Amino acid sequence: MKKVRKAVLPVAGLGTRVLPATKSIPKEMLPVFDRPAIQYVVDEALEAGIEHLVFVTGRNKGAIEDYFDRAYELETTLQNKGKDDVLAELEASIPEPGSMSFVRQQAPKGLGHAIWCARDVIGDEPFAILLPDVLVKAAPSCLAQMTAAYEQSGGGNVIAVEEVAREDVNKYGIIDPEGGTEGVIKMKGMVEKPDVDSAPSNLSITGRYILQPEIFKLLATQGRGAGNEIQLTDAMARLMEEQAFHAVKYEGRSYDCGNKIGYLTAIAAYALNDAEWGAEARQALADALDGAS
Ligand code: G1P
Repeated sequence: MKKVRKAVLPVAGLGTRVLPATKSIPKEMLPVFDRPAIQYVVDEALEAGIEHLVFVTGRNKGAIEDYFDRAYELETTLQNKGKDDVLAELEASIPEPGSMSFVRQQAPKGLGHAIWCARDVIGDEPFAILLPDVLVKAAPSCLAQMTAAYEQSGGGNVIAVEEVAREDVNKYGIIDPEGGTEGVIKMKGMVEKPDVDSAPSNLSITGRYILQPEIFKLLATQGRGAGNEIQLTDAMARLMEEQAFHAVKYEGRSYDCGNKIGYLTAIAAYALNDAEWGAEARQALADALDGAS
């Protein structure tokens, strides 16, 4: 069984659901309390043992690349001012040289197409996908829980799932479980954004995947599906005809930063749980609630 060493982070999306905030900065760079959303996702991947990150980017996404690079002027200024603690924090977010690649998705054809754009950098090995709109607060990290399930089940494909309200199933990829709905679940099907009446379950795909490289040949021929986009879920459903798929109902909580209220909830959750600022954040949020009319 090959180790999962690489991860794809599709970051080409326009962030239309959080406009105007995302008009001139990538949605992945919006701060969630004190760091850009993308930092949490990268940390999650690194915690799970990922060694190389492949960003699928688009126009106007240069700020992401800059964020993970050195900022010499800034570092020198901080050094001269003796701000060693801030410097150390910046240092911690710089990846190993050569451990990030950036490929472009030239047209917004859907998630399946974005992943296919990473095929040459991934090559012939299993890989993870983390959708950066979704932050998952979990210990161990969501991807680390999935990697453990991947190793236990002897390879194959693993996706993270969680329960959603029945009326919301049409917003997600939904799995068809073969037996049981807890822990590691064997799957017999999946469908992207089903009608509420025909959904096979209320277990939604969270936006974390471990897939075998055979997905790429299926993505290459994948037609358009829900929303007239090339859907990853549709290609995974085809791969399931050849290979095993397990769903992991992970322990933790997800926040969808791709919409305004999900993003607001994420900021509050991460601030409240911050070791240094949590207590003050609680007071500040209580004051804000008091003051709200
Ligand atoms: C994507 C996937 C979907 C998944 C969701 C999680 O949909 O296609 O299967 O459930 O992410 O956030 P999107 O949110 O891009 O429409």
